[in-house]
Amino acid sequence: MKGIKFSENVTRIDTSGIRKIFEAAGSDAINLGLGQPDFDTPEHIKAAAIKAINEGFTGYTVGTGIPELREALSTKFREENGFSVSPEEIIVTSGASEGLTIALAALLNPGDEVLISNPGFVSYNALTEILNGKAVSVPLAEDLTMKPGTVLEKITPKTRAIVLNSPSNPTGAVASRADIKALAEIADDHNITIISDEVYEYFIYEGEHVSPASYSDNVITVNATSKSYAMTGWRLGYVAARKDYIDQMLKVHQYIQACANSIAQKAAYAAVTGPKDSVNAMREEFRKRRDVLVKGLSELGMECAPPKGAFYAFPKVSNSTEIASKMISNGIIVVPGTAFGSEGEGYIRISYAASMKDIERALSIMEKVL
Ligand SMILES: Cc1ncc(COP(=O)(O)O)c(C=O)c1O
Repeated sequence: MKGIKFSENVTRIDTSGIRKIFEAAGSDAINLGLGQPDFDTPEHIKAAAIKAINEGFTGYTVGTGIPELREALSTKFREENGFSVSPEEIIVTSGASEGLTIALAALLNPGDEVLISNPGFVSYNALTEILNGKAVSVPLAEDLTMKPGTVLEKITPKTRAIVLNSPSNPTGAVASRADIKALAEIADDHNITIISDEVYEYFIYEGEHVSPASYSDNVITVNATSKSYAMTGWRLGYVAARKDYIDQMLKVHQYIQACANSIAQKAAYAAVTGPKDSVNAMREEFRKRRDVLVKGLSELGMECAPPKGAFYAFPKVSNSTEIASKMISNGIIVVPGTAFGSEGEGYIRISYAASMKDIERALSIMEKVL
């Protein structure tokens, strides 16, 4: 038998814990494990894609993305996020996932450190490790947000980046303006880059969305149409940053991706420039489900502060794996907090990107089994 010598960085990382849970659950289980809106892509967005196909817009586009989309995103950042980037300071990517990849690839030399919230979205650690960096975990405060003081304690001469994710997956927490401003100041003072993952920006129920790029230009803003417009399968994202960042990220993008999907780019243009009714309707529906879920969980004796954003509740439990396994064996898919890092012990993630009927059914099963 031939023994292939694989990359140590890759063999060391584990496959996604969330995927394993889906595989373990029965096919008729109630799925509260999903990380995507349970809505269809709005009609006007689909129509733009169909038009693009019919018009033969099916070749490679310019690597950075079609000019009208970058123009529209530049306007979006100015009007909604409070910072200025020109279309030349934007790259259209294959989802936020590619945006995170090219940001980290542009920044990291072997052994460079990236500060990542623990618990945090699963890709941050894995991508850092794949790209030869070292993931340094930043424990969260009681309100499940990343605090500037804790970040300061973790900074070393090797720190290159801080990954910020507000609203957060898996906690649903939303960082305050004061904390974002303080983190931006830390980035400036220490010449560290903030990689700001803002994919849940439109799903905020209390508080406000603040982009760190409105306070510092040491920021790579990563976003996508994936969650905002129920377009996860279209694989369309974007990054915005100062030109020196863009120049390096563009090289990685060109060689790993060439360009984002041409049809999805036309669809994204329709999404970004079109009516926001469907986004607002999704947010209001998520808010209703969140309220029912949080009330139900507290009636079951689970401590769960109402999440301010995204579509995840992160209640406290006695033992993550035990409670998650119990729920899964009773037909409710949830994710143990430990899938998002060691500090996720004592929590489970429950997604409310599921119908009200499923949430209510799940609550009544939980009442019986817990
Ligand atoms: C916080 C966060 N960032 C990025 C992504 C990936 O987004 P995309 O599907 O656009 O690659 C996800 C998906 O679950 C996410 O939760």
